[in-house]
Amino acid sequence: MAINVTIKKEVKVKEAAKFMKVAKKAGLKIKLPCDGKGKCGKCKVKFIGGNAPEATKNELKTLKREEIDQGIRLACETVIESDSEVEIL
Ligand code: FES
Repeated sequence: MAINVTIKKEVKVKEAAKFMKVAKKAGLKIKLPCDGKGKCGKCKVKFIGGNAPEATKNELKTLKREEIDQGIRLACETVIESDSEVEIL
């Protein structure tokens, strides 16, 4: 039986920052199969609190419209612009 554990860590940044920079500051390691080029879609994160930033060109190409509408973005592309709660999928 699988056991799911959620560990939350709050990270403060002074200004808008790339998600990967924030994740690194939080000590999180996220796999980037396409080296963060926004093409594989394997680094999905979901904004569950706050507003998801506008989707980038690569996110519009790589993600489905429904995913974007649900607040899903690519960790390698997205930028944290305001107070946010983000789940790594
Ligand atoms: S690492 Fe491939 S889309 Fe982000």
